[in-house]
Amino acid sequence: QAEQTLAGKRFVITAGGTKERIDPVRYIGNDSSGKMGTALANVASALGAEVELITTANLPTLPEVHVTDVQSVADMQQAVMAHFQASDVVIMAAAVADYHVLAPSDHKLKKTSEQSGLTLQLEQNPDILKTLGETKTHQLVVGFAAETDDLLQHAQTKLAKKHADLLIANFVGGGLGFNQDTNAVWLMQPNTEPIQVPEASKLEIAETILNTIQQIRG
Ligand code: PMT
Repeated sequence: QAEQTLAGKRFVITAGGTKERIDPVRYIGNDSSGKMGTALANVASALGAEVELITTANLPTLPEVHVTDVQSVADMQQAVMAHFQASDVVIMAAAVADYHVLAPSDHKLKKTSEQSGLTLQLEQNPDILKTLGETKTHQLVVGFAAETDDLLQHAQTKLAKKHADLLIANFVGGGLGFNQDTNAVWLMQPNTEPIQVPEASKLEIAETILNTIQQIRG
């Protein structure tokens, strides 16, 4: 059994890609499998933390992990906010859609004619991480940044704009990041040089992230 270094700590962790409904059988989604967030939940739990996993993915968890299943960003935001006040650490590993369909159809959309296209009007979603960063009192707020270009520069901007205490930057694309069993990341904290973590299993990356969180919290 792992040393219970996180005993008594309450973690809220999100995982997976959000789904924004177009109609009852279609949605706008993304390639996140939930492996990274679920690995964080399982490792935190093995270290003794009380873990609330808010997820769109249906992956195996340790029996002690409390799981809330969600689909849309609105569902995810509601579940995160319900647990935020009582938490010590929130980790937003989910790939959260920036937009939702303004008026999802309550019946399956039909093709109208051979030629006509379909236009979906999208509206911006709330930024959950930014809200957490702006309203935190005692909580440590941790985000991820998935980038296909200028990784460190974009991640640095997100760290500052979303008022995160720790941001995990991961390059995605070309078979990296989404839906893999391994990841390679940079750990970024305000006013600190980024630390590179070379490619390792998502479980090992989760251990490194949780060690860093413990160091920040002393
Ligand atoms: O799930 P896997 O297949 O294992 O893949 C893991 C991963 C690549 C999805 C994960 O490691 C990761 O990078 N997650 C964040 C993906 C993402 O949405 O990045 P972003 O750069 O779009 O968002 C930045 C941060 O803001 C994230 O912490 C995100 O959860 C949060 N966010 C984004 C938009 C929004 N409306 N609300 C948010 O809270």
